[in-house]
Amino acid sequence: MQYIVKDDFNGISAAAYDIYADFIKKNSGAILGLATGSTPIGLYKLLIDGYKNKELDFSQISSFNLDEYVGLDPKNENSYNSFMWKHLFDHINIRPENVHIPSGQGENLKNNCREYDRLIASSGGIDLMLLGIGENGHIAFNEPAKSLKANTHVVNLCPDTIEVNSRFFDNSDDVPKQAITMGLSQILKSKRIVLLASGRKKAKAIARLIKEEEISCSFPVSFLRVHTKTTIILDKEAASLL
Ligand code: PGA
Repeated sequence: MQYIVKDDFNGISAAAYDIYADFIKKNSGAILGLATGSTPIGLYKLLIDGYKNKELDFSQISSFNLDEYVGLDPKNENSYNSFMWKHLFDHINIRPENVHIPSGQGENLKNNCREYDRLIASSGGIDLMLLGIGENGHIAFNEPAKSLKANTHVVNLCPDTIEVNSRFFDNSDDVPKQAITMGLSQILKSKRIVLLASGRKKAKAIARLIKEEEISCSFPVSFLRVHTKTTIILDKEAASLL
């Protein structure tokens, strides 16, 4: 795990873009792991600019998103599906058939999970995984718990995650209580990982991640310590307790 500190949100977005642009140019058929949330939006804007400037071509790129709410129609404006199309896919030349987002709909969510893992495995695995970090140390929706699941699974969201995510909904009762998420295995098998963190609210989790050595299910992001090619990109606020 190595980390770099940039001045602000624009700085971390630009640093992440440099990694992505270089990677996509060298690997035109790359498999990207993608994240939702506030943090990747700056990077996504730069990727769109890169496409519009003809610097980047996504025509052979595939993507797998980390997670999705259970029970929300993909067209619902708060679904992660809608988020990804609005903030990235609608504006670049990625082929819709190469976009993968777990489905939180249907009778048999376990089957959705197995199918998602099968698709990731048959694509050859994720080359470059983008992660955010929850204030509670979650990655994707792998929430702090007594034990964690390796593969894609359905998870009950923690009350604090529901509270944090309620900013996108009319009220916190509307936030789905469950999500479908990649497990630690899919994340840790990624050949390279980039984790972005911005703002003072993330400083405690970042300090715990970087300063401590323990690997614990109560702090899921700590599993990144076993990954040899992880780059953490922080702004000064997120790095303020280091
Ligand atoms: P955020 O979410 O980018 O909206 O802070 C990150 C996360 O919860 O993983």
